[in-house]
Amino acid sequence: MHDKLLYIETFGCQMNVNDSERIVSLLADCGYVSTGDPSVADMILLNTCSVRGGAEEKVYNRLANLRIYKRDGKKQIIAVGGCVAQQEGEELLRRLPYVDLVVGTHNLHLLQEMVQSAERGERRSETAFIDKEQRLDLFPSIKGESRLSRFVTVMQGCDNFCSYCIVPYVRGREISRRSSDILEEVRQLADDGVREVILLGQNVNSYGLKGESDFSFAELLCRVAVIDGIERIRFTTSHPKDMSDELISCFGDIAKLSGHIHLPAQSGSDFVLKQMGRGYTRQSYLEKITKLRSVRPEIVVTGDIIVGFPGESDVDFELTLSLMEEVRYIDIFSFVYSPRPGTKAAALNDDVSREVKKSRLDRLMALQRQHTREISQEMIDSVMSVLVEGEGKLPGQVSGKANNGRIVNFPGDVSLIGSFVDVKISKAYPNSFLGER
Ligand code: SAH
Ligand code: SF4
Ligand code: F3S
Repeated sequence: MHDKLLYIETFGCQMNVNDSERIVSLLADCGYVSTGDPSVADMILLNTCSVRGGAEEKVYNRLANLRIYKRDGKKQIIAVGGCVAQQEGEELLRRLPYVDLVVGTHNLHLLQEMVQSAERGERRSETAFIDKEQRLDLFPSIKGESRLSRFVTVMQGCDNFCSYCIVPYVRGREISRRSSDILEEVRQLADDGVREVILLGQNVNSYGLKGESDFSFAELLCRVAVIDGIERIRFTTSHPKDMSDELISCFGDIAKLSGHIHLPAQSGSDFVLKQMGRGYTRQSYLEKITKLRSVRPEIVVTGDIIVGFPGESDVDFELTLSLMEEVRYIDIFSFVYSPRPGTKAAALNDDVSREVKKSRLDRLMALQRQHTREISQEMIDSVMSVLVEGEGKLPGQVSGKANNGRIVNFPGDVSLIGSFVDVKISKAYPNSFLGER
């Protein structure tokens, strides 16, 4: 029997990237191998994101485009997963007769049997949230081809309910995975040749705060750090309000901890931060950055910023630009605010006009480009420890990530793949560096 072919498109955050890896590994057990060509696929799966406005329509449109591959007589399964699937549920089946499966964010463990029923011609939607006890046993532990760097999920969901954000509604309540399960998975990965782990969750630094784990996130980091074979630890994402002194000091104490932190500020104005329900002030955010730099002077910082939140004045926006000047992010993800159904902010008057939102975004992005350029230039001639992960952009080059998370290409042989190499930076590009050994 020939292998069945799976075509998968992934949108949104690293949670979804990780879920897609899990989907590929679950469906491998059902006889599916991946293809990049939807026209030959036996199954098409969209792993969706609903964080911004218009997300649902985009999914409906993309599905309408993909259905052309489901020609008469051809048995092709069309499946929708991720946060739009969670949100829309049965509605997707009702509106789109060619969709076979809708699998919610808590239901991936049902995917294999759902695919089997779809192969028999049944259409199904599973989007029920499941209780904490069961979830603890269902944290993804991904088997797959061996790699140098892997995600390890440490917590799921979010209880923060920032006023603009849909994530708590589509991912459900926050839950911390058992520390023993996490450590066992990391040990297994180390035995399989993994050199870098990325601890993953919506707010990894609130790990253990709800009493489900005997460890804080900082303690968890210490325990991961002593596992032989793991040479580098990264984590994403962190919430500024849960950035404890204990965790900050890890950047001084744990040499294996990457010199990069993603710490989304969202805004530089206390008024806007309050409206967003973020639970910190501009000043307390900046203090955390100062403390981080005092224990790890070369740390690079990235973040997320939203422009045009309801009530954001010119002065509020200038405060965001000045926050960026103070922090000097190496890079940011910037978003135009869009109301999401069911969130608190959706009830506020979305009073910043489209033109103003657009011009604020343009100014913010121009400032960020300048900062990225300047900070990258300052890194020229410095030496970075690079985990070589594959071939580089040009022939004769290899590529990897530096300790601060930046991509570095340098002349070298593929035999270097898997090792850490000290590379002197010679040239800076917007998204990567060039260097030499
Ligand atoms: N848990 C992460 C963020 C996940 S969502 C954190 O709290 O840092 C990723 C980003 O999308 C957010 O940081 C925010 O900047 C952006 N975002 C979320 N909802 C949004 C909305 N309604 N409009 C615009 N941007 C939004
Ligand atoms: Fe959304 Fe806030 Fe939770 Fe991040 S912390 S996922 S922005 S609600
Ligand atoms: Fe998007 Fe869901 Fe992640 S809404 S940002 S894919 S948690």
